[in-house]
Amino acid sequence: MPPFFDPKPQPDGRLDAPAFHRNHAPIWAVLAPYLERARGHVLEAGSGTGQHVVRFARQSPQLTWWPTDHEPRHLRSIEAWRAQTGCANVRPARFIDLAAPGWALGESDAGALHELTAIFCANVIHIAPWRVAEGLLSQAGGRLRPGGWLFLYGPFKRDGQHTAPSNAAFDASLRAQDPQWGVRDLADVTAHAQAGGLALDKIEPMPANNLTLVFARRDAAEGGVSAPQ
Ligand SMILES: C[S@@+](CC[C@H](N)C(=O)[O-])C[C@H]1O[C@@H](n2cnc3c(N)ncnc32)[C@H](O)[C@@H]1O
Repeated sequence: MPPFFDPKPQPDGRLDAPAFHRNHAPIWAVLAPYLERARGHVLEAGSGTGQHVVRFARQSPQLTWWPTDHEPRHLRSIEAWRAQTGCANVRPARFIDLAAPGWALGESDAGALHELTAIFCANVIHIAPWRVAEGLLSQAGGRLRPGGWLFLYGPFKRDGQHTAPSNAAFDASLRAQDPQWGVRDLADVTAHAQAGGLALDKIEPMPANNLTLVFARRDAAEGGVSAPQ
């Protein structure tokens, strides 16, 4: 499987992911009804190149975005995109290892982290060991404010079956690269999210047999807070 980004960075460290150019508009179409009028802080988990965060931040100037990743090269790329686009509402890239227990932004950022409006995570949990999904899903609920959302984008199996031959082939290529990687099952993801205090609010079909899953912090979901109309 080739790297998700063009391996030749710009001199300032900016990486370009070809998939970003295909994905950002359909993803934002799902996020926009939730985030266009929302206020507060949005954390991106596994920001990669940083292209999504700067694009989405420009489309929601009333929100503060917090890009994160665990790869130094990706953190450099995020910073370079932030500098190049001059997005005032994107905070400096922070190191977060989603598999670490109690992942956090850092002492001075703790207030924002525990009152997040949303967490956005695209194309991470299948290109990482399952413990990364567990770390994200078990801890996201505790980082969101009541009524906050977790948006999870990527390919998923349903009832243990791939939804398309292309996803089956992609899964095989992931597992060939690392046996701990692989397309996750919707039921496993939902069960872990529920155990972490999140309720599945919406399953949005996306181009190329992907899904965007929208979870809401359960106490708010039970009280009737749901997808904006
Ligand atoms: C395929 S890239 C997707 C990047 C970006 N979200 C996108 O859609 O273009 C997966 C990202 O997840 C990050 N990642 C993998 N394991 C991680 C972990 N344990 N903690 C934080 N980030 C992780 C990788 O460093 C990489 O940037």
